Amino acid sequence: MAGRIPQSFIDDLISRADIVEVINARVPLKKKGREYQACCPFHNEKTPSFTVSEAKQFYHCFGCGAHGTAIGFLMEYEHLDFVDAIETLAAEYHLEVPREDSPWTRDTRDEKQELYDVLESASHLYQSQLRQSDRAIQYLKQRGLSGEIAKRYKLGYAPNEWSYLIDNIDNINALEKSGMVIRKSADKQYDRFRDRIMFPILDRRGHTIAFGGRIIDDGEPKYLNSPETEIFHKGYELYGFYEARQAVRKLTRIIVVEGYMDVVALAQNGIEYAVASLGTATTKDQIQKLFRSVHQIVFCYDGDNAGRKAAWRALENTLPIIRDGLEASFLFLPEGEDPDSLVRKEGKTAFEQRLDQATPLSEFLFKALTQEINIETMEGKAKLENKAKPLLGKIPESIFKDLMYQRLSELVGISVEKLSGESKQQETASISVQPAPPRSTRKIKQNATRDAIALLLHHPELASVCAIPDTFRDTSLQGFALLHQLHETILNNPGLSSSALLERWRGTNEFEILQKLLQRDVQGTDDKQAQEAVYKDAVQQLLNKYKDERYEVLDAKLRESGLSDTEMQEYKELLKR
Ligand code: UTP
Ligand code: MN
Repeated sequence: MAGRIPQSFIDDLISRADIVEVINARVPLKKKGREYQACCPFHNEKTPSFTVSEAKQFYHCFGCGAHGTAIGFLMEYEHLDFVDAIETLAAEYHLEVPREDSPWTRDTRDEKQELYDVLESASHLYQSQLRQSDRAIQYLKQRGLSGEIAKRYKLGYAPNEWSYLIDNIDNINALEKSGMVIRKSADKQYDRFRDRIMFPILDRRGHTIAFGGRIIDDGEPKYLNSPETEIFHKGYELYGFYEARQAVRKLTRIIVVEGYMDVVALAQNGIEYAVASLGTATTKDQIQKLFRSVHQIVFCYDGDNAGRKAAWRALENTLPIIRDGLEASFLFLPEGEDPDSLVRKEGKTAFEQRLDQATPLSEFLFKALTQEINIETMEGKAKLENKAKPLLGKIPESIFKDLMYQRLSELVGISVEKLSGESKQQETASISVQPAPPRSTRKIKQNATRDAIALLLHHPELASVCAIPDTFRDTSLQGFALLHQLHETILNNPGLSSSALLERWRGTNEFEILQKLLQRDVQGTDDKQAQEAVYKDAVQQLLNKYKDERYEVLDAKLRESGLSDTEMQEYKELLKR
């Protein structure tokens, strides 16, 4: 395992990279006025609606809504995670990525490397054993798999011996730590996998990190899996993900199925974008990982009760991650079928037709909820509201969320405002990038938060114009803490570009909000002077708002439990205003 990349390197790299260069190397751009254009690489279109702004160092597609920074583009386009995107970008600028190489990271790195090494050797040994075992070959053939697919998925065969790996790999310690060998007593150990078809599980770099082994013919247990180890965490990895990314240059969707054999059989039949969660419900981490690569996930489950339960778990784990532009749907298979049996029966085209018609998450959610409730009655409506609200509450702010509330409102006959409550309304107002609705005093103040954050993000040099008090950090007023944190970050790291700033929030709840704000212009701030004036004015409004809020808090406390000396002092100061 490599050490951490120093933050300063990431900051410098992003600040110096040019999004136009980065994208143009992959999607040729044409200059159009102040911006660059191309046909969008993330959806099919004939006329270009994909634009890249050099000034903002940002891309945006008016067709499908895709948007982001240079790093965001690399992550989406090349299916990379953040660290890989940084490495890719650095390579383009001929920079070596430094690693913080503490003695501690060096030790664990060597230790992990040993595990990777023995698993790699084990995989090679199993593959060569497969070539020599008629029985294993026959089994795979009978299940409809070709030699080519077996090779692509590096399928192998663990011979029926108690010490095959022990005898052939000279690192018993690492074999044990990797879960391939089980220790029975101080001087007795044996191979975990014997007489099984072996499915290696690869990580995102293609390293073998674990195995699943299927018994040939009948027997118990049908599948045996590697245990959790230092390099294998079930809830995070997905079987077949690496292979899918290798096979499909531009992944657009992923199917999540339940079994190893389903993944391999689908690939055998030309559907090369299936992955399996590893014998557990699909976790949030796994879904997040997939959505970093594709915008569409189809969860594929048996039509029986267990399948519906698994689907519901997946739905619950998807809600907190879904955002506009991402799509999740559910395909329930006919009784008695799994993807393996069905695709062999029906073939690619028919199976893909089923995928196209899969039930959208929204529909599945409301269908499942309304199934046992009679929503014609008031009691039923109340029950539905009770069940749906906590679920909808998990969805991040988005148009999708608004639409879900709207649907619930139609079903129960209560206004969206009532359903989603004051708090949500305020939140939406403060992050919405749509033109402001008719003005009220409250709205103007909320726009001040938005404007201050947006201006600071667009023009980090404004940080020196006026101070942001530390008290903003601790108030619950929407956006105040974010403004404070942004301001601090700029002061502590002079010279950060807007996109480098933004990237520091990647993976947090505020990332999307900041990203939207970076995309949007603040009206009337074309020149330096105007920027400063609007920024100062916005901050002043926030100071006033903070004082109003503080006054109310102290006033209430005074009536209830009284104030401490310092609080009283503050209260008096506030009264003077
Ligand atoms: P299934 O029992 O549905 O098997 O298990 P399958 O994928 O259809 O396999 P075939 O077609 O009989 O070969 C689905 C998944 O659940 C896990 C495995 O990950 C398997 O792929 N499982 C199942 C186990 O871990 N252990 C078991 O004993 C059974
Ligand atoms: Mn099966």
